[in-house]
Amino acid sequence: MYLQGYSNGIQRSHLTNLAYLFTSRASSRPTHLPVLSRNVAAWVSSDSGLLAGESRSCLQWRAPKERRLGCERFRIWLNCGARPASPWRAWSTSSRTTVGEVGDEQAEVGCEDKEGGVGVEKKEAPHVAVLLNEVLAKFRDRRILSFVDCTLGAAGHASAILREHPELESFIGFDVDPVAHSEAKPRLQAMASSDVQLHLVLTNFRNIKKAVNGADAKLVHEGVNGILMDLGMSSMQVDMAERGFSFMKDGPADMRMDPSASLTAEEILNKWPEAEVARILRDYGEEKRWKHLARKIVDKRLAGGIHSTSELVKVIGGNTFGRPGKGKAVHPATRTFQALRIAVNDELRTLETALADAFDLLAPKGRLAVISFHSLEDRIVKRFFLKAAGIGQAVEDNEMGSEPVTAPEYRHIPGETRHSRYTRRKHLDKQGDDFSLRDKNVLEGSIGVVLTKRPIVAEADEINTNPRSRSAKLRVIEKI
Ligand SMILES: C[S@@+](CC[C@H](N)C(=O)[O-])C[C@H]1O[C@@H](n2cnc3c(N)ncnc32)[C@H](O)[C@@H]1O
Repeated sequence: MYLQGYSNGIQRSHLTNLAYLFTSRASSRPTHLPVLSRNVAAWVSSDSGLLAGESRSCLQWRAPKERRLGCERFRIWLNCGARPASPWRAWSTSSRTTVGEVGDEQAEVGCEDKEGGVGVEKKEAPHVAVLLNEVLAKFRDRRILSFVDCTLGAAGHASAILREHPELESFIGFDVDPVAHSEAKPRLQAMASSDVQLHLVLTNFRNIKKAVNGADAKLVHEGVNGILMDLGMSSMQVDMAERGFSFMKDGPADMRMDPSASLTAEEILNKWPEAEVARILRDYGEEKRWKHLARKIVDKRLAGGIHSTSELVKVIGGNTFGRPGKGKAVHPATRTFQALRIAVNDELRTLETALADAFDLLAPKGRLAVISFHSLEDRIVKRFFLKAAGIGQAVEDNEMGSEPVTAPEYRHIPGETRHSRYTRRKHLDKQGDDFSLRDKNVLEGSIGVVLTKRPIVAEADEINTNPRSRSAKLRVIEKI
């Protein structure tokens, strides 16, 4: 979400403590600054580009010395898991700055709580980027001159990358969904500095090579410094009933990420042979009663078929068992919806192709980060990464089990005593998530270094504010 205000040509000295965000309903002046949680980032942009890259604490900031804010609109962007529980207001400490002029704009942006934001335009982020800090950390220690975000969504990750890497020369972003594309484009254009070339392309990331070539051909030869794939659906897609992604909302059984594609869930449900329906429920949904459910779906064709998400949910009814995870039971329709979505968008094959092409595009020492949301995706990513790191055979031997594959550093060294192995591994574990084969024995034939021994997952804080992050897994590989 963001707050929007107007400056009346303020001086540099006024730019400290320009505005506060606070959440007290009773008070008309700020009495305290909200506590910044780890997952809240705030930054400021103005019509002429980024004004301040870093907030010092929630909405206190100081403009860089060389910049002066003219008479223009500025925005304070907040990337936080959820809107504060109580209504919030903004307050400026500078007499020459107005944070949130009273106007009709509030209504235009669909402000729900008029009382809470007098004079402040507010808009919730339509999608909250998951594992944002963790992704940024993997690119923080290096100069990133070129970056490809394969899944722009609402540009949460993309804008944070742009903000953190002012050295960027070329930024390429894709999304296959025109809604996401039109959401991300103005956001990125508003905040990107004029020094970076922005190429925002409406395309499937399976075309990554072609699209990068079209956007900035020299990158195909020089390589890209960073690539991100944040797989799956955005909250925008789930929230739009008409897209058919949600079993909680009634809409057409569509599920296309790319609305111009020809295959829909409706077609699968009503036209595909029973064996094929059963296969996708088993392979893509890991649905226990795949045969039974496929029969029910096909039987429904005699009564006119299934055309909406609510009809599908009714058919699924009690026919599937929600597989309770750690703590929370899963809605019985989850697996069927996942299976159909994967089939409609050919997600697994697309991922396999795109991973290989993305890795190919990396420059030496370039990094590829992938966030996956279910075990099928994660398995593909894990397999690909380990193969690139030259330990693919271990994955084959492990037959895709859920057990972590032992990295060479962790394997038994002939002659080593149990105690020294224990001490060595303990030491490795203490080093945290990152492990590098480079300084040790880079395996013959390996072309990458896996930087995440185990996938990075969201911390409790983030899961509380953004439940979507519960199943997110981040893996990162660096090209040798
Ligand atoms: C989880 S969201 C990304 C959110 C984004 N990282 C952010 O911070 O706002 C995933 C996005 O990827 C897009 N997407 C999924 N599969 C795609 C594909 N094969 N090619 C391009 N975009 C895809 C979806 O349309 C969706 O907008």
